[in-house]
Amino acid sequence: MAIEPPVVLIRKKDSFLIEKFEGELHTHHGVIRLEELKDKNYGGEISTHLGVKYRIMPFKPADFFKHFRRGATPIMPKDIGAIIAYTGLSPDSLVLDAGTGSGVLAAYLAYFNKYGVVVTVEKREDFAKIARKNFRLAGLRNIHQIVGDVRFVAEGFMKEFDLVVLDMKDDAEFIPMAKQILKTSGYIAVYNPYFEATRGVYEAMVREGFKEIESFEIIRTDLEFKRVGTRPVTRVWHTGFIVIGRNV
Ligand SMILES: C[S@@+](CC[C@H](N)C(=O)[O-])C[C@H]1O[C@@H](n2cnc3c(N)ncnc32)[C@H](O)[C@@H]1O
Repeated sequence: MAIEPPVVLIRKKDSFLIEKFEGELHTHHGVIRLEELKDKNYGGEISTHLGVKYRIMPFKPADFFKHFRRGATPIMPKDIGAIIAYTGLSPDSLVLDAGTGSGVLAAYLAYFNKYGVVVTVEKREDFAKIARKNFRLAGLRNIHQIVGDVRFVAEGFMKEFDLVVLDMKDDAEFIPMAKQILKTSGYIAVYNPYFEATRGVYEAMVREGFKEIESFEIIRTDLEFKRVGTRPVTRVWHTGFIVIGRNV
């Protein structure tokens, strides 16, 4: 079966995203003529002019974080996984994601929400443009992008959202509005790197009557396997805090 872009070329820890089968890819191990990919299969190999081989793989959701273009700092998969699991995202949900940033969170939410829609709102046109390219790359059609300030955009929304996810500056200020647009038993999840802002979000959720509020951080520790032994290599483990509440 002929392969189609996008694909990823993988060798050991290196991975390259290929969006077109034309031109050249310059690696540390030589040059790859990308036209040659047209005659290859998934799982096959392609060689650089120095004979170093790369394995050809389809572009998958696990590649979103590594290969999406970056505008604003994206949220990490470990935190996205927690948001999806703790809010019980089902595949037919209506989700509000603010702000879009690079679109990493929106893309994962859309991927696991196959029969639903993710409405994502970003106030900066330049970031929205980067995210749009990422959504196209991922082939995701169930994302509705809006450019604007979510505090005003959301005034036009109805009480129909299953999940509201916030990763922006005005998180705490937006909690009352989130309460207005969430269905009964809908969830809110807020991601923020700072203690103070997280406390503000927590208190705002309490004030608005959200229940089952949980506030936590997910820690990922990367391991290094060497002949002398195995040890953690993660130096900076903090990314952000997550606060989750249920609209009861
Ligand atoms: C940290 S980034 C979000 C990253 C995103 N979750 C991802 O995974 O790629 C925060 C984004 O929120 C946007 N933003 C901040 N305040 C906003 C607002 N009131 N309405 C819409 N977007 C806002 C910023 O411009 C920025 O792009």
